[in-house]
Amino acid sequence: MELAIGVVGLGAIGRDHVKRFHERITGCKVVAVSEVNQEVGRRVAEQYGAKFYADGEELINSPEVQAVVVTTWDPAHAQYVLASIKAGKYVFCEKPLATEAAECEKILAAEQAFGRKIVQVGFMRRYDPGYTELKKTIEEGKIGQPLIVHACHRNMTHAATMTSEMSIKNSGVHEIDVLRWLLDDEYVSGQVVLPRQSRISAKEGLQDPQIMMLRTKQGICIDVEISQSSGYGYDIQCEVVGDLGTAKLPDPPGVITKTDCSRVTGIMPGWETRFVEAYNIEMQDWVDRVKNAQPLVGASAWDGYVACVTSNILGQCREEGGTSKEIVLPEKPEFYN
Ligand code: NAI
Repeated sequence: MELAIGVVGLGAIGRDHVKRFHERITGCKVVAVSEVNQEVGRRVAEQYGAKFYADGEELINSPEVQAVVVTTWDPAHAQYVLASIKAGKYVFCEKPLATEAAECEKILAAEQAFGRKIVQVGFMRRYDPGYTELKKTIEEGKIGQPLIVHACHRNMTHAATMTSEMSIKNSGVHEIDVLRWLLDDEYVSGQVVLPRQSRISAKEGLQDPQIMMLRTKQGICIDVEISQSSGYGYDIQCEVVGDLGTAKLPDPPGVITKTDCSRVTGIMPGWETRFVEAYNIEMQDWVDRVKNAQPLVGASAWDGYVACVTSNILGQCREEGGTSKEIVLPEKPEFYN
């Protein structure tokens, strides 16, 4: 039996995931879709033979939908995750889990009251072969004890709606999640340093680039450059410095062309291509586990909560002029261990 999936939100990644479920992921079928832009929603529904719902909650409560994928704008995530838990359905929510910590707390409470982990957050870098190998290298002790991480997240360009706050809450949140997973550590403090403003991304309300600085319980210091307008491609870098050596995230492989006294390798333009393998592995794993009622191993609602709290604190640091702040979280409930 194929897992009957309902997708709420059919923007860039929503349509990408629908296509992925249709063409690539085995054991599932998208049976229902919802989108506030009804023209787009109806078109996608027709293309994939799914039923269109104008109302996302109606889709979630429909008996034909067994599991839900939430790919709307960030502020609508929490509402649909809570509705899915209420309906007792597995829900995969694209990052971030919610924009405010209070909404994440409602999700944590609802999931624990339900009694089983049914929420997964779309932090797909945990499935990326490069990050997986980097984690293994660290765990095998090849570089000794990690001391420092230098990371960078460069988008080719940004949407007109991008703000300084979103730069951390929407882009930086990937780094916040993947680095605590990579190091198997937790953050204790953070701050944001603002370099000179890029002329390319100059726009009122957008400070770009920003540098997030984090310190972990084990004393590892992390710096992450977040740039919204590299102009040359989507570039994700991560280098871990240990006391015995360093380990670096590999760039995606690309043919090297040599002509006219130059050596050229392409750089991916965006997340769709850079992390395609990670999305494919992540979604196949999610479908298989949901179908077989196996425990989910991707980022949990707790991980989504940690990422949300951390990004909100870093946002406050920036607004308050770059002072360092402690990152304090309640004790992790046993349910999430
Ligand atoms: P987008 O702006 O292209 O699409 C969002 C869509 O949601 C729009 O079509 C909008 O009309 C729809 N929508 C908004 N509120 C809705 C509601 N209440 N019900 C139904 N539809 C609603 O944005 P994009 O790039 O597709 O991102 C969507 C989400 O996925 C964001 O939260 C983003 O953070 C996340 N994302 C994750 C990525 C990853 O690497 N894991 C990559 C890109 C996006």
